[in-house]
Amino acid sequence: MKKLIYSIIFIAVLAGMTSCTAPDPVKTKEDLKAAFNGESTASAKYAKYAQKAWQDSLSNIAILFEAASRAEGIHADNHKKVLEKLRVKVEGPEIGAFEVKTTAENLADAIKGESYEVATMYPDFIKDAETEKVKDAIKSFTWAYDTEKKHKAFYEKALAELNAGNQSNLPTRWFVCPVCGNTYDLASVKNACDFCKTKKEKFIMFMNF
Ligand SMILES: [Fe+2]
Ligand SMILES: [Fe+2]
Repeated sequence: MKKLIYSIIFIAVLAGMTSCTAPDPVKTKEDLKAAFNGESTASAKYAKYAQKAWQDSLSNIAILFEAASRAEGIHADNHKKVLEKLRVKVEGPEIGAFEVKTTAENLADAIKGESYEVATMYPDFIKDAETEKVKDAIKSFTWAYDTEKKHKAFYEKALAELNAGNQSNLPTRWFVCPVCGNTYDLASVKNACDFCKTKKEKFIMFMNF
């Protein structure tokens, strides 16, 4: 009798454990991999666009590309950390193909990339992560999403000033939060990051000497 009771308790505990296990967040894992590769590609691309802008003596645009490149690298790292936490073996990154053209064309390409991430990619990924209840992915995607909105506006302003021949009007200093990739120019920088509260002293600075 005692044996039977123990067996029933054991089966009940096992059933309880099984029912508590969250379902595998398949879609979020795929999204994280896509975002990891996308951010890694953007980081590599903006680094090359920065080099091209330096060559063209467009130094204020060069440091914007450098800052954004670092921010995308931080986003890629954050997505990778979430994948690792979900016990996904991360390979790569797979860097997508891109071409370095004139700085005006490079800015237009950057605006196109940021627009896709802001209008489509991150809203969809955040929805998937919410549906599958993956808190770390929601945070990682949201930090990137909110940063890309700012990047899009910075690039649009840079292209407008370049077309007007006013490159020198653009900020000469940029700051990147090392935790979430949030990006500030000199006029808008705060004492702490608006997204993750990291102190300004820790921000990475990009200067046009
Ligand atoms: Fe960006
Ligand atoms: Fe931050």
